[in-house]
Formats: sequence, C-alpha cells, structure tokens
Amino acid sequence: MSPLYERSIQIIKEGQSSTGAYIASPNFPTYSYCWLRDGSFIAHAMDQASEFDSARVFFRWVGSTIQKYSKKIDEIEHRLDNGIPIGKDDVLHTRFTLDGKEVTEDDAWGNFQIDGYGTWLWALAEHVRLSGDNVLLLELVEPIHTTLRYLDLVWRLPNYDCWEEHPEYIHAYSLATVFAAFNSMNSLMDQLLIPSNEIPLRKRAMEVREFILTHAVSDGYMCKHIKPSQQIKVSAPVIQSGVDSSMIGLVVPYQVFSPDDLVMQMTIAKIERDLLRPGGGVYRYRADVYYGGGEWILLTAWLGWHYARMGRIREAQVLQNWIERQMTSEGYLPEQVSEHLLAPDHYEAWLNKWGPIASPLLWSHAMYVILVNEIKKAKQNE
Ligand code: BGC
Repeated sequence: MSPLYERSIQIIKEGQSSTGAYIASPNFPTYSYCWLRDGSFIAHAMDQASEFDSARVFFRWVGSTIQKYSKKIDEIEHRLDNGIPIGKDDVLHTRFTLDGKEVTEDDAWGNFQIDGYGTWLWALAEHVRLSGDNVLLLELVEPIHTTLRYLDLVWRLPNYDCWEEHPEYIHAYSLATVFAAFNSMNSLMDQLLIPSNEIPLRKRAMEVREFILTHAVSDGYMCKHIKPSQQIKVSAPVIQSGVDSSMIGLVVPYQVFSPDDLVMQMTIAKIERDLLRPGGGVYRYRADVYYGGGEWILLTAWLGWHYARMGRIREAQVLQNWIERQMTSEGYLPEQVSEHLLAPDHYEAWLNKWGPIASPLLWSHAMYVILVNEIKKAKQNE
C-alpha cells in the first residue's frame, strides 16, 4: 500500500467526531459540518478498507439525525397534497453540525439536496454486503423507512444538485441516487433483512430510471440537468449545461445503467473529451468557476473507479498516480488542484471569500481509498 493510503485512513479517522459524523474538511471553516453526500462515500471507503466500526457509527449518526427531523415529512406531504409551497427549511437538510443539528448560522445555504439521502441508503446496503452487519439494519429500520418515504415524496421536485447549484432544475445524478436507494432497499426487503413498507420500491426505481431516460438524454448523451415540466410542457434536458463528471455515478456506483449502454458509453466518452485533462485530472463541468474551476481529486478517482470496473486497469492506475502526485507535504489531498484552471479570473474572489481551497478534504481521501481497492479487485479478477 502507498503511504497515501494509510495516511488517508488516518485523516478520515481523525476527522470522525465521537458522534460518528465525518467532518467534510477540518481546515476549512465553511466545511466544518457533515454532509450526507460526503459522509456516505467516506463510510463506503471505510467499509472497503474493512474499517467497519467507523462506518457503523456514521450510519447510526445518520439514523438518529434523520429521526430527529422526521416530523417534517408529514408537513411536506400535507403541503404537496394541498398545493402549498414548500419553504427552504421545510425539507430535510443536506448538512448538519457534527452533533446532528441543522445549521442555522448560515441561512442562505441551499439545504434542499436530495442526493445525500439516496446515497446514505446505497452506502448502508453496501455496508451490510461487505460486513455482514445485518443487525445494524434492524436498528435503523425507522430512519430507513423515513428516508424512503421522503424520497418517494420529493424525487420529482427541483432541488440543488450535488455541487449545490441550480435549484431550479431536477438532476440526473440526484435521481440516480434515488434509484439506487429504492433498488438496494428493495433487495434487502426481498431477503427479509428489513421489514417492507408500503412503497412499491422496485416499481418506483424503474419509474425513476425511465424518467432519467425520457427527460435527461439529448443527442445520445446524458445531460446533467432536467428542466421541470410546467403545465402542458413536459420536462426536458438542459442542453446548454453540457456534460458533468458526476454522470459517472449513473454507472458506478448506482448502476442505473450498464456501462455498455450506448448512452453511457457516449457520456463517458464526452467526459473524457471535455473534462479529463490529458495527463491530468478531471474537471466538474466546463463552465465551473468555483475557485477558478480546477481538477477535482474525487472525480479523478471516480473515473478511475469506472475504469477499474471495466478492466481498464492501466488507465485507472494512471489516475491513481496523478492523485498521489497531488499529495501535500502533510499528506493531505485537497478538494481541487489549481494549476490548470478553466476560469482563472474567478480564483481570487473565492480565495478572498473563504480562504485557501479545502485541504484535506475527507471525500477526496475516501475516493482515493475506494480507487486503490477497486484497482486491487480488478487485478484479482484479471
Ligand atoms: C461541493 C459539495 C460538497 C461540499 C462539501 C461543495 O463545494 O460542491 O459537493 O458536498 O463542498 O465537501
């Protein structure tokens, strides 16, 4: 194992609070919270590294945090049934303090992001598969059912995407997490590992998949955003938003589509053409201006994860090597690397606003750990 692997596990452990929550980044005040999205991937990395205790306490933390706010869901249902608008704090939040409270200091944050709720259920199912920890599922029945009910109510509503932007749209990535949540929980129910609820999950998963296929595909590839339908007009892909590297998620890990499906082959090829810097890392999307739009460590590992699954081990290895070269002298992986910015003019403004780029970012370390394990598995399967 490379020194960065051990260091990554250590940084993740140090970044896990006694409550079970993982801090997004210990050195970047704006990220001193736990996001369900980041946290679920971090827990999955810990599961892949056989650090099951760490993942287990995270899932318990998620469960108790969700239950604390579960009463909101009756109100959401009531509002949806009666055509009453849903306010920004009526929803379940995307991030919490490490002791599981909603963040009230920053009122302007886009809290309505559904993908973390899909991802935690996917990651929990993976935890059970990898660790055999069936008992945890029984402990978490209530928050599992709460989350499924919540997702069932809100998946068609516009909300913020995984980059916390564009609340006016519905997002293929976020829907993919919902598909994975419905599908994975359905299969645990089929195995009688958790009691079923009244939602026809398999059918719902297929509806979500169908929705993505019908509304997000344009020109043969997957668009990141879907404009919601208004009155008679149907939902439509937002073509000008182009491709986004998070679309890899539709194949790995959420398996909405097979990597052999033409639309995903075209989408990944477009990501490689438009967003993978030759010899470098992976950008989020062409119009990215956040800290000038650098190459993201976690997305570079994500593309490598896909390559490993496809048996493209040499290419996965090249990405792993690139990530290792980005390690700082403290053994940290940042969120993004700024040497080849897409929009250099925007860098300074973010630096002045929030300080230097988050480093270490626990999600970057997690995706690196996942990549190393996926390459190892791929080599064993050769
Ligand atoms: C990213 C999110 C992430 C958050 C914390 C934001 O800048 O867009 O995807 O969850 O940082 O890491």
